[in-house]
Parts: sequence; C-alpha cells; structure tokens
Amino acid sequence: MIDDIKEYETTALESVAAAETMIQLDEAATAALGRSGPLIEAKRQLGSLPVDDRKTVGRALNEAKARVTDAIESRRQELAEVERAGQLEAERLDLTELLGAPVTGHAHAVTQAWEELEDVFVGMGFHIAEGPEVETDWHNFDALNIPPGHPARDGFDSIYVQHGDSGATLLRTHTSPVQIRTMLAQEPPIYIVAPGRVFRRDTADATHMPVFHQIEGLVVDKGISLADLAGTMEAFTERYFGAGFSSRLRPNHFPFTEPSGEFDVQRPDGSWLELGGCGMVHPNVLRAGGIDPEEWSAFAFGFGIDRLALMKFGIGDLREFFTNDIRFLRQF
Ligand code: DAH
Repeated sequence: MIDDIKEYETTALESVAAAETMIQLDEAATAALGRSGPLIEAKRQLGSLPVDDRKTVGRALNEAKARVTDAIESRRQELAEVERAGQLEAERLDLTELLGAPVTGHAHAVTQAWEELEDVFVGMGFHIAEGPEVETDWHNFDALNIPPGHPARDGFDSIYVQHGDSGATLLRTHTSPVQIRTMLAQEPPIYIVAPGRVFRRDTADATHMPVFHQIEGLVVDKGISLADLAGTMEAFTERYFGAGFSSRLRPNHFPFTEPSGEFDVQRPDGSWLELGGCGMVHPNVLRAGGIDPEEWSAFAFGFGIDRLALMKFGIGDLREFFTNDIRFLRQF
C-alpha cells in the first residue's frame, strides 16, 4: 500500500505542475484530494489493516496529502502572478508611440463645457471676468450680504487657509465674489461671466467633489429688471442646449439677490434639470461693489459646470472626471 501512496503522490504532483491555468489547477486539485479521489479511497481501506500497519500507512498518507496540498498552493500563487503580469502587460500604455507622432490630445470634458459656455455668453455680448481662487472672507461672504454669524456661511462648508487673521482667508466657495471684484474694478454698465474653480469641504461621491467649477454671470445697467434675467436665461438655454430646450425660474432664497430664483432647464422629453441660482442683485451687494442702487440695477446668476458636462456626455459619476484614466477621457 505504501507503493500505491507513492504512486498517488507522484501522479498528483505531476498534474499540479502541468496545470497552466487556474481552471486546470482546480481540476488537478479535485482529482488529487476530492471525494472520489484515490486519497479518500486509501483512507477507507486503512480500517481493514492490522493496527501497526495502520499507523505507518496512515502517517505516509497524511504526509503525501500535505505535500500535494502544499504543491497546489504554491502552483496557485505562481499562476496568480502569471495572470497578473499578463493583465498588466495587456493594459500597458506604450508612451514611446507618442514620440515623434503629432500630438492628438484634446481638452478635458469639463474644459470643453467651460469653453463652450464662454463662447455662448460671449456671443450674447458678455465679457469674461476672473478672480482669485484664494479669497478674502469679505469678498466671499460679507460683501455678498452674508455677514459673520449668518447661517448661510455654515451651509457652504468652507475651506479656510492659514493666512492673516484667523478665518480671514479661504478657498472661494463659489464664483460670486467675482461680482464684487468686477464692480470694484470697473464702471457700469457691466456684462460679465466668470467661470472658475470653487472649493468646499465635501466628501467625493457621484455628484459631489471638494473641487468643482461654476460660472457666474453679472449684468449691471440702467433699468435692468427680472424680465431681462428671464429673457437672458431663456436665450442662453436655446443657444447652449439647442432647439427643444426651455427654461423656468422658481422662487428661492439667496442672501445676495432679492428676489432670488432657481434656474431650471427643461429637456425635450419634459424632464427638468436644476442648473443653479439667480436673481436681482441685492442693494447691499451693489453698495459693497461701489455702485449706487438708486441709479443702477443688476441681475446675477451662478451654476455648476461639471453637472452640465455630466449631462451632456451622459456620465453617471462625477469622480470619473478626476481620475485621469486616459481610456475614460479619450471618449470625450
Ligand atoms: N453662489 C451660489 C452658490 O454657489 C449660486 C448663485 C445663486 C449665484 C444666485 C448667483 C445668484 O449669482 O444670483 O450656490
């Protein structure tokens, strides 16, 4: 019987070594250790041996089984490494391909949406304005009619920067401070849009990122009314989204506008997309910008660019934009 066990072990080790795939290895393991395999059969026969032989044969059997089990395990690890190496090889990007070839990259999907928005607004007579990403608390809040202690400050989940007095400097939470900077820098009439990066203490998920993009609009002129705001939003909707899309304003509240609205776009299938906020600029905000609210009136709006890009390209998860996987980015 000892010879049978030797033979069993040799056969089992050979078939384990011969396995080239995980499936073949599983088959070899089942044949060697499985219920209907020779090992179980040999164990069954142990009972009929004399007591002394039973010990020797039993030990031989257990040792053979342990060696076969070890061999299966180490073959499994080898095969796993081979499979992983194969996968890495298959996914390898050969950057030397690019040497000497014409550069065929293109703008990121969010940049494309950003630039298209600029084009549409410039086509409607707006200028592009800019402001810093690191802002003073005054421009980001106070000047926008959000004084210290105002609950709206908490709603923004701001990221503060250690600079000057504590709480005096932050990463801008919205593009609205560009309204203030523009009013302080130039005389009305003002027709600007300000696209840019904004920051909030948000956990990344399918619809939130701690860094995202907004576009702000500001119009300051004589006799500007809510009708001008609604008309501008409607004209923008038709130009940016195309035929079959329309817009509506819904009452809402923002400290920097009065009255304030939410700006929604209706798709041709009848469904609504919430784009952002808008309203008639609050007199306190005009004053903070050095503009006399008795003489001038103004409307403003602000909405997210990333969301627009998600919708435009039919992407389900905002995080995809930021992983920089070339296979994803190439599609847009
Ligand atoms: N700043 C607002 C936000 O980030 C959006 C906004 C609402 C901008 C109303 C505006 C406005 O200019 O009038 O949520």
